[in-house]
Amino acid sequence: MSSVQKVRKAIFPVAGLGTRFLPATKSIPKEMLPIVDKPLIQYAVEEAIAAGIETLIFVTSRKKHTISDHFDQAFELETRLAASGNSELLDTIRNIIPSHITRAEVPQIEPLGLGHAVNCARELVGDEPCAIILADDLIKSRGKGCLQQLISQFEIGGNSVLAVQRVADEDTGRYGIIEPTIDGCQLNSIIEKPNPENTPSNLAVVGRYILTPEIFPKLDIVANQASGEIQLTDAIALLLEDQIVEYCEFEGRRYDCGSKAGFIEATVDYALERADLRDKVLAHIAATVSKGTA
Ligand code: UTP
Repeated sequence: MSSVQKVRKAIFPVAGLGTRFLPATKSIPKEMLPIVDKPLIQYAVEEAIAAGIETLIFVTSRKKHTISDHFDQAFELETRLAASGNSELLDTIRNIIPSHITRAEVPQIEPLGLGHAVNCARELVGDEPCAIILADDLIKSRGKGCLQQLISQFEIGGNSVLAVQRVADEDTGRYGIIEPTIDGCQLNSIIEKPNPENTPSNLAVVGRYILTPEIFPKLDIVANQASGEIQLTDAIALLLEDQIVEYCEFEGRRYDCGSKAGFIEATVDYALERADLRDKVLAHIAATVSKGTA
């Protein structure tokens, strides 16, 4: 039997400022913005539950109570929908999170970076591997979800696994970029936002990670050295000095919903998959393109 620990917990850092979506994100967290009619955070939570995660840990800022509201029971709304016999809508708001799943929340008082947000969840994670999901990276897979693919790889060797995707050379300066080993799927090194002229590869880390608990002391070291944001990438670089870290070029299409263009692409693609919207949206796109006003 494998001695690799099961990945039971997932951290959802949702305490960023979301400045690229202002003014919408002045009072609404970016992760509550909907793709068609479902908030980004719900897609992420569904992906985690489908991958076998049992505990959801939200790292939130003060304004993010709307996220816990979204997953709480809405008695008045449910009563009204039940009274009006709208069972279809009732189903969409009821039991979004199944009863066997535990939900926890921890505050990040100041947005000091993704690495800091992850470290806020340390007590709740304890001494076990955990998943990290950035809800603004929406990933549509044909088969197994992206997180499930990472967990399957983790279960083989028990090493940390990062989701990566090939990006255009000129975009490498926007991501954490890995230098892969010649064979296998391990990292030689990782660097945050390299100069595109000097990038070690075009394999960019995107918003899904499985990390061993040894990441937490590394985050402390980074925090002590950092002058600006506390980067998760820098802690992973330190982890690499002691442990194997792997990457997974997952199957699936990723939408960068933290950017406006990515958010709009996701909205169009998800709408086109919906039987109730497809024809209207296609007709609108065709008419817009033929008028040349697109
Ligand atoms: P981003 O780098 O997209 O930053 O964070 P942001 O603040 O959310 O958005 P912009 O760039 O200002 O538009 C990536 C993920 O890390 C979380 C965010 O909520 C997002 O899920 N995060 C970031 C935190 O939870 N805390 C932080 O201090 C920073």
